[in-house]
Amino acid sequence: MYNSKIIGLGKFLPENIVTNKDLEKTMETSNEWIIERTGIEERRHIKKGDNEGTASMGVKAAKIAIERAKIKAQEIDLILFATLSPDYYFPGSGVLVQEALDIPDCPAMDIRMQCSGFVYAVSTADQFIKTGMYKNVLVIGSEYHSGGLDMTTRGRGVSVIFGDGAGAIVMTREENNEIGILSSHLHSEGKHAEELSLIGPNTGRWVPEIIAENKQDDISYYPYMNGQFVFKNAVVRFAEVINEGLEKTGWSPDQIGMLIPHQANLRIAQFVQRKFGLSDDQVYNNIQRYGNTTAASIPIALTEAWEEGKIVPGTKVVLAAFGSGFTWGSVMIQW
Ligand code: UT7
Repeated sequence: MYNSKIIGLGKFLPENIVTNKDLEKTMETSNEWIIERTGIEERRHIKKGDNEGTASMGVKAAKIAIERAKIKAQEIDLILFATLSPDYYFPGSGVLVQEALDIPDCPAMDIRMQCSGFVYAVSTADQFIKTGMYKNVLVIGSEYHSGGLDMTTRGRGVSVIFGDGAGAIVMTREENNEIGILSSHLHSEGKHAEELSLIGPNTGRWVPEIIAENKQDDISYYPYMNGQFVFKNAVVRFAEVINEGLEKTGWSPDQIGMLIPHQANLRIAQFVQRKFGLSDDQVYNNIQRYGNTTAASIPIALTEAWEEGKIVPGTKVVLAAFGSGFTWGSVMIQW
């Protein structure tokens, strides 16, 4: 059995910055409310007409990660693409990346686990590498939320939170089993599936039916979130799954060099930080600048932390996520 480790990281954020003040123009909200409840100051939205999408952002992040990994794209054996906002209903976005990177015949798999998508994808890559089936795996998290949000007061509980962006990593085989991904821990609880969801269109209500109904007030194709319920579950599950990783690795909280929590809400990250008694230097947050980019949030934050020199060989890194499904998970990495 091999270990897997991360050898290249990249990110892409659209240039268009949307501040809280900008949102005040289309809905009843305020800069103060958004900062106090979420910590978010601004986010990036793809500008209509910019010819940008979920796969194309992923490709841009991936090219940087591949270059930093010092391999050729054609050496990638598997692409894992985590997103809840794929370019098409089907096929998934992974195959679009495979085509754009010109990697002949490379398997490309989409991972539909929402905010936990990147953690699930890293764990999946780890299993393929451990068994020796694949050597180099490209893992991407990318989201294009802004085009599908209800930007009126009706949708403000959700729309102020989400942003667009992409992050990518290259993982490879490591023979030293004390380095790289030491463990990963995945969970789901489907009874809460609809508490954070986008229900329509679906196989009980196909697009032709929706068109025939022609209901102007149909909100089933906007994301729905039972915010307080999700929040309460998130703080419990984040703590549980980080604890699970600490128990498995034998690390104590003070040994954590960098915790990268999914950027759902700054208050959730601060709660988790207090729970484990971590200092500000041990936790990376950038939700203030990018909002919640679901499957992209961890790879974007991981890349930034690495670019800022906060993750170096020897650093103990913890990734942790919670989101729609509900799904949650953690990954323990000895850098
Ligand atoms: O990424 C996946 C996981 N996601 C999460 O973990 C998110 C978890 N949930 C949250 O982050 C928070 O619940 C929210 C940020 C979504 C909402 O914050 P909250 O403190 O739970 O607010 P709330 O939903 O209880 O709403 C409080 C009030 C309501 O008004 P009333 O009923 O008290 O009069 C809302 O209508 O705030 C109102 N409100 C807003 N006001 C101004 C909701 N959204 C907004 C808004 N601007 N954008």
